[in-house]
Amino acid sequence: MKNIAVFISGGGTNLQAIIDDSKKSKFYKIGLVISNKENAYGLTRAKKANIPNLYIKSKETNVILKTLKDHKIDYIVLAGYLAIVDPQIIKKYKNKIINIHPSLIPSFCGPGMYGLHVHEAVIKSGVKVSGCTTHFVNEEVDGGAIIIQHCVPVDYGDTAESLQKKILKYEHQTLVKSVNLLVRQKIKVINGRTKILK
Ligand code: GRF
Repeated sequence: MKNIAVFISGGGTNLQAIIDDSKKSKFYKIGLVISNKENAYGLTRAKKANIPNLYIKSKETNVILKTLKDHKIDYIVLAGYLAIVDPQIIKKYKNKIINIHPSLIPSFCGPGMYGLHVHEAVIKSGVKVSGCTTHFVNEEVDGGAIIIQHCVPVDYGDTAESLQKKILKYEHQTLVKSVNLLVRQKIKVINGRTKILK
């Protein structure tokens, strides 16, 4: 049974999707939720699910590393974590940290591209397809090897808000699928690309 930590900053609907899936999984459990925002509703979701949860400032790297060790964490899932993960954490958890991003990476990602900003840029660009991406986390913001992508059509009448809502439900499905592949060690990273094992 693998132990995952979920890092959040906000409402935690992606966290909730993982909580709901973990309850019926024999492969993993959520051993810890960390938020860099003290009032993140995701902390409330963790409390309701009786999951250890802590507010830790993103720059408190040593505190984060000790907390991960104390909770025997195997993998880290960034689910709306709006802070940079310190390189010391990335090094310690090489190819064991994944993130969900609300666009089709490498489009509409990188510094400043988070939350509604992503969808505003998508609408403004006129592209006809957006979606979400899970990927490994490395030192480059949104730069790690891509795991799963899900395409979502952009309709002419879409606003940034309506597109965000459309994509969010696929984020939940995509992230849950990716977590299950991760904890079952079904993802190989070869030359910056992932091979999903049967
Ligand atoms: C999601 O859109 C996710 O892709 C992005 O931040 C948002 C978090 O939403 N990284 P929630 O807190 O999981 O509801």
